Parts: sequence; C-alpha cells; structure tokens
Amino acid sequence: MKKIIGFALLGILVVIQFIRPNFTNPPVDQALDIRQVLQPPADVHAILKGACYDCHSNETQYPWYSQVSPVSWWLAGHIREGREHLNFSTIGSLTQSDRSEILGEAAEEVQQGGMPLASYTWTHPAARLSATQRDLVVTWLNARGAGEGGVETSGKNAPGGVAEQEHEDND
Ligand code: HEC
Repeated sequence: MKKIIGFALLGILVVIQFIRPNFTNPPVDQALDIRQVLQPPADVHAILKGACYDCHSNETQYPWYSQVSPVSWWLAGHIREGREHLNFSTIGSLTQSDRSEILGEAAEEVQQGGMPLASYTWTHPAARLSATQRDLVVTWLNARGAGEGGVETSGKNAPGGVAEQEHEDND
C-alpha cells in the first residue's frame, strides 16, 4: 500500500513538471527603463537590480528551482504580481503622478522592511539590505517619489525625452 502511494505521488510530481509557467522575459525597451527615465546613481541602481529586479522588472533571473513545479507556480505568481504593482523596466510608460506614487510606496516598503519579500531574501542572501543600502535607496526613491511631486529629469539625457511615451499602454 505504502509503495502504491509512493508511486502515485512520484507520478504526480512527474506529471506536474509538464505544467510549467512560461518563464520568458518580455522584451526590455531601454527608453522606458528606470535607468534611462530617472537615471538613478549606479549604487542605487545596483541595489534595485540586486534586490527588486527579479520580481519587478522584465529582467528576471530564474533560479534552477524555478523550473521545478510546484515551486515554479509559486514563483510565477510572485513575478506576475510583482510586475503588476511595479515594473522598473516600463516605468517610463506611467504618468508622472503614477510614477511618483509608486516610487513613494516603494520607499515605504523598503523602509518598513516589507520589500524585498522575506521568502526572497532567504534564498537570495545577497538581496538582504544593510542599513546603509536601505537608507540610500529609500532616500533616492523618496526624492523621486511622492515627496517632491515628481521632479522631471528624464529629458536631459534621453534624446527625444519620454514625454510622448507617457500615456502609452503597458501590457
Ligand atoms: C520575490 C519577489 C519580490 C521581490 C524580490 C520584491 N518584491 Fe515587491 N512585490 C512583490 C509582490 C508579489 C508584490 C505584490 C503583493 C504584495 O504587496 O505583497 C509586491 C509589491 C510591491 C509594491 C507595491 C506595494 C503596494 O502596496 O502596492 C512595491 C512598491 C514593491 N513591491 C517594491 C519593491 C522593492 C522596492 C523591492 C526591492 C527592494 C521589491 N519590491 C522586491 C514581490 C517582490
């Protein structure tokens, strides 16, 4: 009996490997990326990239276990939801007020330790932010976020600016 249950479970584990989410990253349009649109200093961007990009960008790096169901389903949910709330790769497609708002929220999340998600920092210790890193990124996010009502700097180094893309839809 035990053996039968064991085989049945094994069978289920094998079968669900065929039910795997599509882990192809959407293409990245550099003109809409936060690097281009808001030009964070390199150290700030490195923190966002190391601690947020796997769930909040179109540059997700998938660990090997993301290929193993049912873990894959769980990770896919985080990535989908994360991108829905905030996607650094397409931040240029938001209106200025939406952008300010979400960056203000991001500052709050990081300050309060809500982001990056704890389940992520267990498996990605490098994404655990030191107090210094946290201060650095929170200060920058606040300055770009609700705090200053969104000071526009994007036109400077982006030829043509991003203004005309502001109202573009973002799928
Ligand atoms: C492991 C995936 C993951 C990582 C890494 C991650 N997030 Fe999130 N984030 C999510 C998910 C899932 C949600 C939506 C559900 C929730 O709020 O818990 C979210 C929501 C948010 C929201 C919206 C909150 C709201 O109330 O609408 C902000 C802002 C945010 N994250 C910022 C960040 C920042 C900044 C980082 C990096 C310091 C980060 N996140 C790292 C998965 C992640």
